[in-house]
This record gives sequence, structure tokens and C-alpha cells, in this order.
Amino acid sequence: MAAVTFCRVTGVRPMSRSQVTTLVTRLPIVLQQREIHHALIPHGRPGRSASSGIVATVFGSSGFLGRYVVNGLGKIGSQVILPHRCDPYDIKHLRPMGDLGQLIFMEWNSKDNKDATRKLLENSNVVINLIGKEWETKNFSFEDVFVNIPRELALLAHEAGVEKFIHMSHLNADMKSPSKYLRNKAVGEEAVREVFPDAIIMKPSEIYGREDRFFNHYANMRWFGGVPLISFGKKTVKQPVYVVDVAKAIVKAIQDPDSNGKTYALVGPNRYLLHDLVEYIFSVAHRPFLPYPMPRPLYRMVARLFEINPFEPWITRDKIDRFHTTDKKLSDLPGLEDLGIVPTPVEQKAIEVLRRHRKYRWLAANLEEAKHANTVNY
Ligand SMILES: NC(=O)c1ccc[n+]([C@@H]2O[C@H](COP(=O)([O-])OP(=O)(O)OC[C@H]3O[C@@H](n4cnc5c(N)ncnc54)[C@H](OP(=O)(O)O)[C@@H]3O)[C@@H](O)[C@H]2O)c1
Repeated sequence: MAAVTFCRVTGVRPMSRSQVTTLVTRLPIVLQQREIHHALIPHGRPGRSASSGIVATVFGSSGFLGRYVVNGLGKIGSQVILPHRCDPYDIKHLRPMGDLGQLIFMEWNSKDNKDATRKLLENSNVVINLIGKEWETKNFSFEDVFVNIPRELALLAHEAGVEKFIHMSHLNADMKSPSKYLRNKAVGEEAVREVFPDAIIMKPSEIYGREDRFFNHYANMRWFGGVPLISFGKKTVKQPVYVVDVAKAIVKAIQDPDSNGKTYALVGPNRYLLHDLVEYIFSVAHRPFLPYPMPRPLYRMVARLFEINPFEPWITRDKIDRFHTTDKKLSDLPGLEDLGIVPTPVEQKAIEVLRRHRKYRWLAANLEEAKHANTVNY
């Protein structure tokens, strides 16, 4: 029926169901083992009005990475189901990212019963979990956000016969990390693999981009008169990755028939000492860089004060530990290049994030004026 409807729309000679199945199995797309829905048959010219054959449910689409992933999916003409718990106004920027009717917004809360979640997955061949939080709340601990919710989504996706489950972890996820966020990310990876062995796990380093909480965080420190860094930031090495590269990696992993069951380490092309990276951030923003060493216990005490205020904490003890963790070198794992993506250097895109931190008179200043940060190889 779906095939007949499709043929009528395009004016092509109707095909039998077996012909449709043969056609579909030859195409390099994600395949649905369940009943064929017409949205799963790629057709049309490339672009937002085409049909890529992808029907994806994206959890956490209202966040920073979400907007780039939804745009990446919309750009190739995918149907995207967007569960959200926020006010519809908070996700209105996503609406133009897909063709008319291709983005389906559905209210959802992770505390809803399983049937509500099943409903979000039943027509999808791809599920992407971007749910995350930088701090714990009285309703959701890191264990809930990084272990329990991903496990449940992976389990329900597996039961529903979803072909690709993509889970966002972190490059430095480690059971022994001083950061509770990173310890739970490590447990979450195992929990997802246990219930969905073919899940694709993405391990990005800190992600930068216009709405990030990394470059913007350091650039905003100018309000405090200087930048506190543990050991002057000279003992921490960072390899930040550009948000568009991460979003592209997710879309490419969906299109790659061999990506199932793999874990990808997504990092930028260069490694920098945290001190040098923050210096570069201030240099691009044309702001004076005044670093000072802060002992970890004192820094954590200050962060505790931010944690107990009733608003979004600007810094937390966990974030201090996470930002002062040296990025792992996971060269045995496939990365951006294996997905056909050339990693973007910080020097090329930092301006996108940092121009708004400049004073008016520097707004249009050339990027070349900023001295590049030294790279390291350890
Ligand atoms: N940003 C980075 O530098 C970075 C680096 C490595 C890994 N990651 C991981 O990548 C993923 C996406 O990161 P991001 O920066 O886009 O995060 P983000 O901006 O904080 O967005 C997180 C998303 O998760 C949703 N969410 C949080 N708690 C939830 C809950 N209890 N129930 C339902 N939805 C919930 C948020 O919805 P609301 O808008 O309703 O709160 C939001 O849509 C996360 O798993 C993060 O840990 C991020």
C-alpha cells in the first residue's frame, strides 16, 4: 500500500512488493526490518525536500548539539521525531530545519511510562540519544541521565527493532575519573552495549560551537577579572572538536552500513595545553588574559557556592574536574576521518563563538591578529 502510494505520487510504474524490497535492499541506507513505510524509500533530489530513508527519533534535540544534528538530518530530507519536555518556544529554532511535516514534535518526559517512549520509536529506524546535563538536580542524578535513561531508551529501541541506536558518551568517560559525570558516562556506555550490542557510541572531547559551554565559559570569565586555572592550566591537555563535525559524524554513521557496534572517538585535529587554549580564546575575543593559579580545593569551594544558588550553576565542582582532565588519546578507535570528515581546526571556527565576546571596536578585526596557540603532542 505504501509502495503504491509512493508510486502514485511520483508517477512511476507501480512495483510489486518484492520489487520494492529488492530495490530497497540495494540502496546504501538504513533498512527497516519491520513493515515498510513509504518514508523509508529514498526518493527525490538531494536536499530538504527529498527522502533520505531515515526516520530518526532524536532525544535531547533541544540542547546544543541537538540543533546541529536535527539540521544535518533535515538537510538530507529525513523524517525526525523530536521528543521534548521544554516549552515549544524553546525549540522553535528547529522548525525550519526540515521540510513541511517532516519534523514531528512530541511532548515527552523521561519519567513517562514506557508506552509513551515506545510510541516515539515505533516508526523509526534510527534513535539518537543526546540527553545530557552538566549538573545534577533533585529530580535527576548523573546516574539517571547517563545510565538509566540511555539504558531504557536502548532497550526499548532494541525491542522495537530499531536498526541504529546512537549514544553520546564522552572521550574521557572512565570509571576511575574524579568527575562523577565521566564515571557515569563510562557506566552508561556499558549499560547501552549490554541491551543494544550493535549500538554506535560516540565519544567526543569537549565540543565547541556558537552555543557551547566551553569556549563561552572561559570567555565569560572576563567578568570575574581573571581566569582561575589549576596549575595555570599547564598540566591539562585539551583537543576540542567542532560541533558541526560531531553532527556530521552522527549523520555519516547512520548512512554507513558498517558502523553498527562501533565506538568512535571524535576529536579535533590539534592538542593544546589548557592555558594556551584559553589564552587563544582571549586573544580572539580581544580581551586581556589574566590567568591565575587556583588550588583545586579552593576552586571547588567557590564552585560549591555556585551549586547551591537556585539558578543554573555557572561552574560546578564536577565541571572543574572535567575541564582539568587531560583528553585521552584513543588512537585504536575509529574517528572523524574514518567517517570521511576532515576535522576542523580551532583557529578556523573559534571566531564564530568568540566574536560576540569582543568589544564593538574590535567586532570586525581580522582573525589573523590573534596569535595561534602552540600545539602539543602528548
Ligand atoms: N557539549 C559538550 O561539550 C559535550 C562533550 C562530550 C559529550 N557530550 C554529550 O553529548 C550529549 C549532548 O550534549 P549537549 O551539549 O547538546 O547537551 P545539552 O545542551 O545540555 O542538551 C541536553 C539535552 O538533554 C535534555 N535532557 C537533559 N536532562 C533530561 C532529562 N532528565 N529528561 C529528558 N531530557 C533531558 C535537555 O532537555 P531540556 O532542554 O529540556 O533540558 C537537552 O535537550 C550529552 O549526552 C553530553 O553529555 C557533550
